[in-house]
Amino acid sequence: MSIIETTKLGLVGKGLDRLDGPFKVMGKARYSAEFPAKKITYAVGVGADIANGKIRSINTAGAEAAPGVIAVITHKNRPPLVDGKTFAGGGAQGELRMPLADNVINHAGQYIAVVVAESLECATYAAHLIKAVYIEEDPVVVFDDKRAQRYPAKQWFGEAVTKNRGEAQTALLASAVSVDNKYRTPTQSHNPMETHATMAVWEGDKLTVYDATQGLYNTRKALALSFSVPESNVRVVCKYIGGAFGCKGAMWPHVLLTTLAARAVNRPVKLVLTRAQMFTNVGHRAETEQRVALGATADGAIQAIIHHGTSHTAVDGEFVEVFTKATPMMYASPNLSVSQDLVKLNKQMPTFMRAPGETPGMFALESAMDELSSAVKIDPVDLRLINYAKRDPDSGHPFSSKSLIQCYKLGAEKIGWNKRSATPGSRKEGDWLLGLGMASATYPTVHFNSMCNGLLKADGTFLFTSSTHEMGTGTCTVMSQIGAGRLGVPVELVTFELGDTDLPMAPISGGSATVGSAVDGAAVEIQNALSKQLSESPLSPFSGVPQEKIVVSGGKFTVVGKSETLSYVDALKLLKLPSLEVKYQTHFNDKAKSFSMHSFGAHFVEVKVDQDLGTVRVTRVVSVMANGRIANEKTCRSQVHGGVIMGIGMALEEATLFDSRSGRVVNRSLGEYYVSVNADIPPIEVHFIAETDKEINSIGAKGIGEIGITGVAAAVANAVYNATGKRIRHLPITADKLFV
Ligand code: MOS
Repeated sequence: MSIIETTKLGLVGKGLDRLDGPFKVMGKARYSAEFPAKKITYAVGVGADIANGKIRSINTAGAEAAPGVIAVITHKNRPPLVDGKTFAGGGAQGELRMPLADNVINHAGQYIAVVVAESLECATYAAHLIKAVYIEEDPVVVFDDKRAQRYPAKQWFGEAVTKNRGEAQTALLASAVSVDNKYRTPTQSHNPMETHATMAVWEGDKLTVYDATQGLYNTRKALALSFSVPESNVRVVCKYIGGAFGCKGAMWPHVLLTTLAARAVNRPVKLVLTRAQMFTNVGHRAETEQRVALGATADGAIQAIIHHGTSHTAVDGEFVEVFTKATPMMYASPNLSVSQDLVKLNKQMPTFMRAPGETPGMFALESAMDELSSAVKIDPVDLRLINYAKRDPDSGHPFSSKSLIQCYKLGAEKIGWNKRSATPGSRKEGDWLLGLGMASATYPTVHFNSMCNGLLKADGTFLFTSSTHEMGTGTCTVMSQIGAGRLGVPVELVTFELGDTDLPMAPISGGSATVGSAVDGAAVEIQNALSKQLSESPLSPFSGVPQEKIVVSGGKFTVVGKSETLSYVDALKLLKLPSLEVKYQTHFNDKAKSFSMHSFGAHFVEVKVDQDLGTVRVTRVVSVMANGRIANEKTCRSQVHGGVIMGIGMALEEATLFDSRSGRVVNRSLGEYYVSVNADIPPIEVHFIAETDKEINSIGAKGIGEIGITGVAAAVANAVYNATGKRIRHLPITADKLFV
């Protein structure tokens, strides 16, 4: 398949408003909790008050007697569930342990019961009447607890975590200049506007589940296994998602509990998580403690990179927050050592959260680069240029495309980097100290196989279908644009339908991957199917012309040297076809074995810090991204905005706090878990470097959902250092840390 010329697609620089926007504004976009069902019932999950121990007894009598209550399910009376044996962290079940399996409690908030009632109010009231008596043990919630089991992390999706090049420790000691510090990032919780929601409807042994999920097919598979029904009996629907960020990537226990309850009460059951449950029942980003050591020559050439550290996982499952993932690829150092440990804590399973790995990892690495820049007295941008990796130093492969130098240069120009003083604390405005900081951003381009069907209808409109997800990113819009761009027709003629396992297979919407290649492939299939018939059919004016001589240009079929052109609908009519349907499936891009495929970018941040109060305000952000083809400048810009906003939250605000005595999350609300709000966010300037990438896929695009957050926290920390001379290595950067 050939690369479509940017100009032919006409997409770069042209933002297209989201096609789903009007539905959302009018309240017509139906989210998972909003589907109707006859004789609906409402379920509420009840969480454990302790983080470690056992249920000695559980009294459900009060709840059962409460008005409107239909069923109370605990580990004592839970109907059987087949252990799905689908792997945790891999996009199916978020936890390996089946819910309500026994009386063991491994984390605070772990479900101990589910109440089903005639109304949400009845269920909520009855849930509070459930009384459990526990055999409590002290929870293990901090890394240095001697009881915590610690072991080396081995792999992440088949790739080894530990990597070594040369002799890093020896090279570090021999380096003219070095920095060696510890960085820490706290547990962070996803807070999409839409909390998780599931509605399960059984009709005999046929199951329909409406679920807020980034992984429809995985959820179907896990449900089919757990309830011993064929996958073909299970339909999972999710038309709109009110944000996800990774927490909806895996199937969490409430999906099984809702489905189980629906079968038990023989009526549809709806369950919506409370905001508080978002902090204890759908994963989180693991806490990290990272050592980064960099050694360089006096000219700033890095000789050694060491990146070691620890993140937590659950007592009963493994998730690796691979903060060392980008490090081996990022800078050209002859010597490198990266490795990670896992510590088992009484917290729920960690999970994917926007750029899992890179987000905490780039905070540490890019902070360390800034520290090295001070130590070696070389400007941070220059230091990165000196150590620029022309080829991937890890795999040795060339990059399929890499425009990071342009990102650094444009970002520096736009923020006015030349105004930065290398001496911290030298710029002041009244009580405020001003600082500039920067950091690199990166995220890999991942490939998952996916399918898409294409349909050309008699009225000349097109329908593409794939069971992917609309997370609020603009999937429907961009997939329509990709289809229209390949076909050469106005986007108004194209509809894209998603969000239903009755549609062709799509993978988890994670890793910034989309089904763009499948849509593009389906559009090509439509062209091929028509040109084949135009070549072969006696009804065609191009009859007998070899198929490869029939070309499509500007949405018309023609033969080189002939003046006659046929639109898609002309072709259908001439061929006497009522419509034309094609199927397409992507195949693994073998070029990914010989090219290193990543997006790159740079964030430049200006902060002001109140020198008396320690208040940090981010006053400007310039983010420059090189992301292959930008299919829709507007939605792509929104993704980078969102990433930067989340990155500022990570830098200054976000932390899920666990009480070390009880193991409970103490800030389980948006009133106490701070995320960035409008008042925290300055103007964010986003620029894209146009890239042509002929290796990456047929569209030349790289996913953009995650890169925007990577590096932001480091850029903020680096700017705070430039403003104050204080290096904060433990996020979030709160005022108390700047006082001392
Ligand atoms: Mo993303 S954290 O892979 O949803």
